[in-house]
Amino acid sequence: MPLNQVIETIRNRRSIRKYLPEQISCNELDAILDAAIWAPSGHNDQPWRFLVIQDAATLDAINEETKKNMKESPVEWVREMGNNEKFHVFYHAPTVIVVSGKQDANSILKPIVDCSAAIQNMLLAATSLGVGSCWIGLTAFFFANREKVRELGIPEGCVPYYSVTLGYPDPTFTPGAPRRKENSVFRYAAPGTKR
Ligand SMILES: Cc1cc2nc3c(=O)[nH]c(=O)nc-3n(C[C@H](O)[C@H](O)[C@H](O)COP(=O)(O)O)c2cc1C
Repeated sequence: MPLNQVIETIRNRRSIRKYLPEQISCNELDAILDAAIWAPSGHNDQPWRFLVIQDAATLDAINEETKKNMKESPVEWVREMGNNEKFHVFYHAPTVIVVSGKQDANSILKPIVDCSAAIQNMLLAATSLGVGSCWIGLTAFFFANREKVRELGIPEGCVPYYSVTLGYPDPTFTPGAPRRKENSVFRYAAPGTKR
């Protein structure tokens, strides 16, 4: 079956881990954030909050604090990354979006799921515009420090889950091979039918 543009974008998206220093345009950033808020959300709660950080000194400080905490991890590969002087948790991307979810005490819903749908929309929108991106979970090592989170200005009652890096891909970066595991799809066979 011929691929349409959306499916091609899905297939072409890769985590970009090397960026050019040039900032992305305001129009590109706006389009990526607009794509985020068109994600589905449970009960249409739209609990996401997006903090855009483009200040390199702040991003470097988050990187330092994240790595400091990673060095204390009981997990060996995390400690190794924390100790790797060359590793930057944002890969020096010029724009980072911290995605937080507004907590609702009465809600049975899970804001992290809605936020994740919004992140995937951002990654795909970025790809379609030629902007590189990477979903960053390791900043959890920074978010663990509530005081630092407050200093960033994340609204009260919001929990930061993930970050997303954005920037123009450095052409010298070769993304990892898009390996995908097989056998992840199963077809239900009704009782009495052949498998
Ligand atoms: C929840 C989540 C957390 C992730 N955290 C990180 C991260 O901290 N650093 C990083 O470089 N990539 C991170 N990634 C990107 C994955 O490593 C990447 O999606 C995976 O290796 C597949 O490669 P691809 O995105 O190029 O298809 C994360 C992805 C997800 C979904």
